[in-house]
Amino acid sequence: MTRDKLKSAAVSMLEKAYCPYSHFPVGAALECEDGTVFTGCNVENAAYPAGICAERNAIFHAVAESRTRFRRIVIAGKSHDFCVPCGMCRQVMREFSPDLEIICLNGAGEEKTFTLDQLLPYGFGPEFLT
Ligand code: THU
Repeated sequence: MTRDKLKSAAVSMLEKAYCPYSHFPVGAALECEDGTVFTGCNVENAAYPAGICAERNAIFHAVAESRTRFRRIVIAGKSHDFCVPCGMCRQVMREFSPDLEIICLNGAGEEKTFTLDQLLPYGFGPEFLT
């Protein structure tokens, strides 16, 4: 999938977000190493910690479909700031793809791209446990 199409897939997920508490929709589109794309949105809950971010939703969706190697992820928000992943999502990304490219969009559709190493330097990963 082209970069632009992956961006559009993430933006499309904004309308699926279930965010009645924060009113902060987030959409994500994850491209796996085999080219498959999985999408996700944030899903909140009346018991706040039970909710999940868009990125982890997409990643867990991919894992449930037997994909654990990822190339890039687009994260779309509607705010002025670029929608960067939270710490928990960075850690989940680290588990599967230390070389992941992370493309963050703001509400104007502008993008800022990061490596996971920039967002989570010295991250703890599975190799520490072997
Ligand atoms: N959120 C995401 O889905 N991804 C991010 O990168 C940042 C935050 C969600 C969690 C919550 O539903 C809402 O945005 C406000 O924090």
